[in-house]
Amino acid sequence: MALLAMRPTGDSAFSRDSGAAAPGTPDAVRPPAPHVPVLARDALDALAIRPDGLYVDATFGAGGHARLILERLGPAGRLVAFDADPSAASRALDDPRFTLVHANFRELAARLDALRIAQVDGVLFDLGVSSMQLDEGERGFSFRAGAPLDMRMDPTRGESAAEFLASRDEREIADVIYRYGEERRSRRIARAIVALREAGTPVRDTLDLAGVVARAVRAPGHQRIHPATRTFQALRIAVNDELGALRDGLDGALARTAPHGRIAVISFHSLEDRIVKQTFREDARIRVLTRKPIVAGDDEVAANPRARSAKLRVAERVAPEDAA
Ligand SMILES: C[S@@+](CC[C@H](N)C(=O)[O-])C[C@H]1O[C@@H](n2cnc3c(N)ncnc32)[C@H](O)[C@@H]1O
Repeated sequence: MALLAMRPTGDSAFSRDSGAAAPGTPDAVRPPAPHVPVLARDALDALAIRPDGLYVDATFGAGGHARLILERLGPAGRLVAFDADPSAASRALDDPRFTLVHANFRELAARLDALRIAQVDGVLFDLGVSSMQLDEGERGFSFRAGAPLDMRMDPTRGESAAEFLASRDEREIADVIYRYGEERRSRRIARAIVALREAGTPVRDTLDLAGVVARAVRAPGHQRIHPATRTFQALRIAVNDELGALRDGLDGALARTAPHGRIAVISFHSLEDRIVKQTFREDARIRVLTRKPIVAGDDEVAANPRARSAKLRVAERVAPEDAA
């Protein structure tokens, strides 16, 4: 299958615009790196875009993939993009073929109904958070800066990570950290979080959480990743119900993609990839085009470290007469 032979390249338009500061630029004045779309060329090729087709970008972000989709569409083509983060509106593309919907992609089918769209020719998911969300310290996604522990993709609804930690019992906190962070020391971390709460000093801030995790696990010597990385990932997944949203979003995409249309999913950790792989394998309405996921080549990883863990899986909706 041609897709399996495709290799990502590091010479896409995006690596030229990687936002890296000029050599010698002091860190303090280094501008935040803009979001660089991962596996851009592979994802676009995977969608096999028809110039007059109607496509969905389920995760608009900075619009990197969306711009590339529009480049491949002709005047009659159309792109509907989703983002749960209201701040995406400020980056909406000025193009008559483009519509941005502020919604979680788990509402994909209902939102397409509202736009009177019955079927689409392809859907792209590029999961997780964007570089902008990580860089905006006040969103609380990262422990690089001190900020309220929020972590919601859509801060207008649901509960923040701090509220989650303030309201759940020790066992539930430990289970979340274990399941979504794949963190072996989850019980010790949960115990330390709850002990602070009981002492009247609950974890409210990103640096509080990073500190309590580091002390709880007492990681020896130099670590490849910060000891709190897995706990942050776990809380983000829980607060945004990322795995539930992915299952619902895939269901919506599978239901609404027209025969011969493609669904392409870029995931960044094993829990997401497992859901994509299993959903694709078990659904008789689609044919899987990627027996193994497409991953970034060394050039792309060197230019964009976010690409290191990216995995792209692609499926094609089969025509009813071709279905088993
Ligand atoms: C990795 S970024 C996408 C970047 C984009 N492909 C680009 O090239 O700029 C993921 C984006 O999807 C959004 N997002 C994540 N989960 C979502 C969900 N369940 N529904 C809607 N948007 C979601 C995030 O807010 C973020 O802006």
